[in-house]
Amino acid sequence: MTIAGKPLPHESARGHVTGGAFYTDDLLARFPNVLHAWPVTAPHAHARVTSLDAAPALEEPGVVTTLTAADAPGEADSGPSRHDEPLFPTEVMFHRQSVAWVLGETLEAAQRGAARVRVSYEALPAILTIQQAIDTGSFLTDTLRLARGDVAALDRSALRIDGELSIGGQEHFYLETQAAIAWIDETGGVVAQSSTQHPSQTQEIIARVLGLTRKDVTVECVRMGGAFGGKEVQANAWAAVAAIGAWKTGRPVRVRLTRELDMALTGKRHPYLVRYSAGFSSAGLVEALRIAFFSDGGFSLDLSEPIMWRSLFHCDNAYYLPNVEATGRVCRTHKTSQTAFRGFGGPQAMVAIEDILSQAAQRLSIPADVIRERNFYREGHVTHYGQTVDDAPRIDRIWRQLKATSDFDARRAAVAAFNAQHDEAKRGLAITPAKFGISFTASFYNQGGALVLIYRDGTVQVNHGGTEMGQGLFTKIRQIAADSLGVDAERIRLMATRTDKVPNTSATAASAGTDLNGAAVADACRQLRARLDAVAADLGKDVAFEELCEAAYMRRVPLFAQGYYRTPDIHFDRATGRGEPFHYFAFGAAVSEVEVDRFTGDYHVRRVDIVQDAGDSISPVIDRGQVEGGFVQGMGWLTLEELLWDEDGRLATAGASTYKLPSWSEMPPDFRVSFLQEARQSNVVFGSKAIGEPPLMLAISVREALRDAVAAFGNGDLGGNNLGGNSVTFDSPATPERIFFAVRQVRAERLSAEARGAKADASLR
Ligand code: MTE
Ligand code: HPA
Ligand code: MOS
Repeated sequence: MTIAGKPLPHESARGHVTGGAFYTDDLLARFPNVLHAWPVTAPHAHARVTSLDAAPALEEPGVVTTLTAADAPGEADSGPSRHDEPLFPTEVMFHRQSVAWVLGETLEAAQRGAARVRVSYEALPAILTIQQAIDTGSFLTDTLRLARGDVAALDRSALRIDGELSIGGQEHFYLETQAAIAWIDETGGVVAQSSTQHPSQTQEIIARVLGLTRKDVTVECVRMGGAFGGKEVQANAWAAVAAIGAWKTGRPVRVRLTRELDMALTGKRHPYLVRYSAGFSSAGLVEALRIAFFSDGGFSLDLSEPIMWRSLFHCDNAYYLPNVEATGRVCRTHKTSQTAFRGFGGPQAMVAIEDILSQAAQRLSIPADVIRERNFYREGHVTHYGQTVDDAPRIDRIWRQLKATSDFDARRAAVAAFNAQHDEAKRGLAITPAKFGISFTASFYNQGGALVLIYRDGTVQVNHGGTEMGQGLFTKIRQIAADSLGVDAERIRLMATRTDKVPNTSATAASAGTDLNGAAVADACRQLRARLDAVAADLGKDVAFEELCEAAYMRRVPLFAQGYYRTPDIHFDRATGRGEPFHYFAFGAAVSEVEVDRFTGDYHVRRVDIVQDAGDSISPVIDRGQVEGGFVQGMGWLTLEELLWDEDGRLATAGASTYKLPSWSEMPPDFRVSFLQEARQSNVVFGSKAIGEPPLMLAISVREALRDAVAAFGNGDLGGNNLGGNSVTFDSPATPERIFFAVRQVRAERLSAEARGAKADASLR
């Protein structure tokens, strides 16, 4: 019986579309006694709280109480690494930061109460950009560094490119906003339902703010309506507020952010400023790269440091860099604390190296796909941090397969033919690879746990440390459990994630959910299967599974088991910048074709082809969904979604009306996703490979196709990507506005070159 590898639908697909699937806030109806919480938020990006009088809120009908610093019996801070996120701050660090909370019988009562809390502020100067932070020395970390070889080689290179690239952040826009409900159980313990990727850490933070131990706190996550990294640590604060409220009042307390509050209060993908110098040989080989990343971390550390490490690990993307010095520093600004977001710092670094390679291609008049290919990692190559790129030949395999199936060469010619005939619009085509390291870079996180229970009737409950956020983890784990036990999937029920079933779990993150928890479940099932096989041998005949379980019970064979998995052989030493931080790499590549309008800069994606390495896919429909969703989310980040803050530090794009998200109209009309064949990954559960984050970075092909199209406006009749030694540059996101100005720039350069040429012709006559 093999259930793994079958294209099963998502185990909650029906519930997702009928509304039958419960999310945290849907549990509200179970708590008739619930209180609703609403924050008092500050009207400054940076200010001292000089006085706070919450008493007037109590005069408002329906207000039950207020929450201020005195109400937390423990330490009122939700900072996950440094304790630098006070729940009731005396210094406001970003616009709309909450300084107190009001609990009401209804949400409206709490809101009216919050409006009556009297707070005085002394406004302070705010740092709102990366450049301001650099200028004033405002940082959250020291400079992190990875290096190899000698970057002085730059000075001897045939082509040198120096530049600066600014990359915008991204709002998670999970459909389910942040939510938690907390109450005191019948034994005096605290229980929280939380939309969290990391129930064990939510448990830790609740224990911290209440001055309890972890055994006193239970956290459950039924499922999330999307998280994308935005609930890896940033779910904790809301659960902590709910817990403080429940502790104070003895009643259940619910916190759910509205969309507007969620966008204003929670962290985003980090905006980056990248400064680089790159040296290329005349054949387009990277000889040396010096690259400095500055991220906008917002007001607190959050996960910004490991995110910056991941940038340093991924500034090579799929390319061998013989001489490289990569540095990174997290800037402290008066903004929301930026946080994990699909790719975790990898995407920004990969955008940068792809940008640099495309510029080199244009400056050297070498086709961009050729320059990329020439720089690929080959067998035996080692990264700039000392890890051998096992499976480097897969990059070539994927590249060749994709070029063939996407008809790359013929379409290259077709694009050129179109461009030769059209002045008002130009098409662009680009192929880009992605290599993404799989494992948490802090090695200790790479562990998973499970608890599998078989009942006498032959049905099974599976508990594990992972959380479901729509990515299909539970579907895959169900398939793993079914095959490991040798039973139908129908017998198996996946239980909501709870800290009292599996303790000390890691966040479901780093795309490692299945690798870690799936392996732990497989481990538990193997033990149970062995016990059942012994019973079967003893019975001496084949019996149905339920009879076997009953027989095992009667023989006093235990029918539950814990499973555990730790990723072998990974390590990294930050001091030396050397190690093997990743268990393996996930590879993929994409070809995107776009068409750009000369007069507006508007563009559309005509076709996308992807080949992704998913190993032996456990769940092909789920994996396809991850590839399509990840790609479109990446495309949104790189082309449409633009976060803007006004001069007071207020997020100007705090809603779907001002923050442009990809939707049906931006879906590639022709979207062809396939998987690398014969791609079994040794040493990973069922030979599969992580898929959650890697496809996001394939969207860089859209950005590069846009660059290709813009170049076509500038190359006159030179053809290809020959710009006569120039290159096209633009910051990210490549909004129609930015593309419009880039087109105008290359056209101006071309017209002045033609004018010079005409003059030269005239003087010859
Ligand atoms: N897919 C959906 N539908 N919703 C999500 O929130 N999060 C992404 C990815 N795919 C996400 C998603 C992120 S950031 C990660 S790290 C992985 O899923 C986490 O799940 P996994 O480890 O099980 O792949
Ligand atoms: N990836 C994702 N999330 C994380 C990581 C990582 O490497 N480290 C800590 N949280
Ligand atoms: Mo994903 S950014 O690792 O939650």
